[in-house]
Amino acid sequence: MPRVVVFDETGTPDVLHIVDEPVAEPAAGEVRVRIEAIGLNRIEQMMRAGAYPRPIRLPHARIGCEGTGVVDAIGPGVGAVGGVGGVGGVGGLAVGDPVIITAVPDMDVNGTYAEFTVVPARALIRRPAEVDATSAAALWVAYSTAYGALVEKAGTRPGDHILITAASSATGLAAIQVVNQLGGVPLAVTRSAAKKDALLAAGAAAVFVTGRDDVVAATREHTGGAGADVIFDAVMGPGLAELATAARFGGTLLTVGWLDPRPASMPMNAPLTIHRYMSFEHTLDPAVVRRMAAFLGAGLRLGALRPTVDAVFGLDDIVEAHRHLERGNQIGKIVVTV
Ligand SMILES: NC(=O)c1ccc[n+]([C@@H]2O[C@H](COP(=O)([O-])OP(=O)(O)OC[C@H]3O[C@@H](n4cnc5c(N)ncnc54)[C@H](OP(=O)(O)O)[C@@H]3O)[C@@H](O)[C@H]2O)c1
Repeated sequence: MPRVVVFDETGTPDVLHIVDEPVAEPAAGEVRVRIEAIGLNRIEQMMRAGAYPRPIRLPHARIGCEGTGVVDAIGPGVGAVGGVGGVGGVGGLAVGDPVIITAVPDMDVNGTYAEFTVVPARALIRRPAEVDATSAAALWVAYSTAYGALVEKAGTRPGDHILITAASSATGLAAIQVVNQLGGVPLAVTRSAAKKDALLAAGAAAVFVTGRDDVVAATREHTGGAGADVIFDAVMGPGLAELATAARFGGTLLTVGWLDPRPASMPMNAPLTIHRYMSFEHTLDPAVVRRMAAFLGAGLRLGALRPTVDAVFGLDDIVEAHRHLERGNQIGKIVVTV
């Protein structure tokens, strides 16, 4: 019988375990996907650990908001109003076609850590030919978040300087490449000096190391004294107010994550637009998903976007994969193949 990862109580990675479950039939407007690879995300670690921002169904919670695979079964009515493949603008898909799942808002119910899941047809796009299943599992969440925050929210333009924290995360690396695709200048901030070469190789114009470099002064130095046009921050915490002083007068602060769970004080420096960004704001909107898929597809074809896979685990090693996620030493996405 197909395997599914579930947990009955929140806690350490060991709460995750595999059970056998029959496959669900897709209802009207839904598609069943046979999962080939899963990308791990920080929000899943938070959900498993009990730090998810809303209540979850326990016991027997599923988990996982990112995955890629092939169409396994198609429910009634799909295709009539765009349906499967409508998002990509390429017509209907058939059983066996490779797809990427673009949004799983109820991951405790239909999470992707499994051999099969059922999602609305509108939550699928075709998998671009440039990526295999493993690379595709490292694509959507990181790159759609970087694109959505930087382009749709902040209106990043060519020549803009973008300061990116947690730069070695999958989302940080995606932001570096998205900024380069846009003709901007990505300035990377990392906690680890050992990651500097990898970040330069990924396309960072400069790398600043927290605790070693004065990030604000270094940003001003690299921007002719003006400061960053946009700060793309995944850390928050008490350092946020000082980080915000690296922005130019009238610049933009995007907070996309909260890796440091301590309270953050409100930045008080002169004119600054602040956005708190959650990708569901865009990935549940088919019109924005169409733009995201077009931008990501172009970036893959041009070679500007190159999903970075840090490590690959099997589904049986899901506990170890979450331990690896928690250690925070990764450069890029942790992928689980099914
Ligand atoms: N808004 C959204 O919709 C959205 C979507 C996806 C991800 N995110 C956010 O983006 C961030 C990265 O997520 P991810 O899944 O791509 O990667 P991840 O696995 O969470 O990123 C790990 C990296 O983050 C840095 N890091 C870890 N703990 C940290 C801490 N306490 N303080 C500062 N930096 C820390 C380290 O990078 P360095 O060694 O380079 O510092 C580490 O390699 C998370 O905050 C996540 O919630 C948000």
